[in-house]
Amino acid sequence: MSKEFIFKKDGDTIEFVGDFNGLYKSEQNPWEQSNDEDSILSKYYKSSRQTLYESIKDIKNIKNGCEVGCGLGYVTTSLNEIVKFDGIDISDVAVSKASKKFKNIEFFANDIGSNIFIHPKTYDVVVLNQILWYILKDMDNVVKNIDTILNKNGFLIISTLFLKNQKYGNEIIGSFDDLLRYWIETDKYRTIKANIDYGDDKEEYQDSILILQRKD
Ligand SMILES: C[S@@+](CC[C@H](N)C(=O)[O-])C[C@H]1O[C@@H](n2cnc3c(N)ncnc32)[C@H](O)[C@@H]1O
Repeated sequence: MSKEFIFKKDGDTIEFVGDFNGLYKSEQNPWEQSNDEDSILSKYYKSSRQTLYESIKDIKNIKNGCEVGCGLGYVTTSLNEIVKFDGIDISDVAVSKASKKFKNIEFFANDIGSNIFIHPKTYDVVVLNQILWYILKDMDNVVKNIDTILNKNGFLIISTLFLKNQKYGNEIIGSFDDLLRYWIETDKYRTIKANIDYGDDKEEYQDSILILQRKD
């Protein structure tokens, strides 16, 4: 990513820019979402997506799901093999590209961190896959908005990487334990699975998955 569309560095400080439309207009495949490159990031995504896929496959009696922060729709499409999945993304450019590519999936442009979030459907599973770092500042709204789209006893799945030397957002969520604590303290969820793979010393990305079930 040549231009600083998403994060801007100012000395030691990292500032969130969040120009997702700018990024999707300028790049065909940001974050290597199509997962067909031979890079470290792509390899990480492949294994992380497999964990996500297997975890959802293991959940019984679910009728539908939604990936929030679906980007170009590759993950949504793969999860749609298990159960009917929709996608939501803040970028209408990404949503338009995803809708053209994957015509059998319903994609919606919407901001999960907004204080005026309205969505026409509810789901048994809501997935946040590799989106945590972009919604950190709006977590209170994110919790409220997920409430409006996740059915009672439904599953919230957060799959995200943690960098070993994470420099952004540590004051809000600086570790996997912080992430788990954040959601449990809302008192709306019970923990079904909480896993982080710290990897070996060489590994830059630590993969994590959190599966929560809505209590009420
Ligand atoms: C790193 S990409 C991940 C895309 C996809 N989940 C995947 O794993 O391939 C993060 C996505 O989150 C979207 N996003 C960021 N903030 C969002 C928000 N507040 N509401 C909905 N989507 C958001 C971005 O537009 C981007 O497509």
